[in-house]
Amino acid sequence: MVVEIPALLSSAEVTEARAALLTADWQDGRATAGHRAQEVKRNLQLPLDHPLAQRLGDLILDRLGQTPLFVAATLPLRVLPPRFNRYEGGGTYGNHVDNAIFPVPGTPQRVRSDVSATLFLSEPEDYDGGELLIEDSFGTHAVKLPAGHLITYPGSSLHRVTPVTRGTRLAAFFWTQSLVASAEQRRTLFELDGAIQALAGDHPEHGAIDTLTNVYHNLLRQWSTT
Ligand code: NI
Repeated sequence: MVVEIPALLSSAEVTEARAALLTADWQDGRATAGHRAQEVKRNLQLPLDHPLAQRLGDLILDRLGQTPLFVAATLPLRVLPPRFNRYEGGGTYGNHVDNAIFPVPGTPQRVRSDVSATLFLSEPEDYDGGELLIEDSFGTHAVKLPAGHLITYPGSSLHRVTPVTRGTRLAAFFWTQSLVASAEQRRTLFELDGAIQALAGDHPEHGAIDTLTNVYHNLLRQWSTT
């Protein structure tokens, strides 16, 4: 399931973030790539312990918790601190699958990457290329969103970023361990939640809303891994 979450950050927040990121010190993205990914990764990444990564990361994490669509789509248990990347001058990231498990820096915790997410920080008209191509059971999704918009997709999917041939593409990316490990079960809960919300909006007195809400919570109880 690929879910677009519009306007996670405001345009003022994105403008400020972009200005700070453009003047930061970046490192070769291969420093944090696994062995196979290193061969296809051509981008820059902000060091994980960079103060700017921590400041902007905290803003993003804070906003995610206040965004019902993100919560409904991912059912988050733990979110890895966001990371930041930069593509320009032909920069690209070929087909790869993200690592299944990530250590949380500075803690003994680990996060299973059930859901991957990319937050676009550059406006689409400011660069050519740089599409995120995600392969899932419904085919290939080409994603290039306005700055401040977020896309979430299954961590299990093969994906790539096409070469940026003009301008600069800045983005934040992170992984979420979901309460529900199965992508199919998450999709079922997401669709059920959306149907309940729609029914509650149109027919708030309908008794079936309580029954369906009960079904939702009982499925979540059965399927959650914590
Ligand atoms: Ni990736």
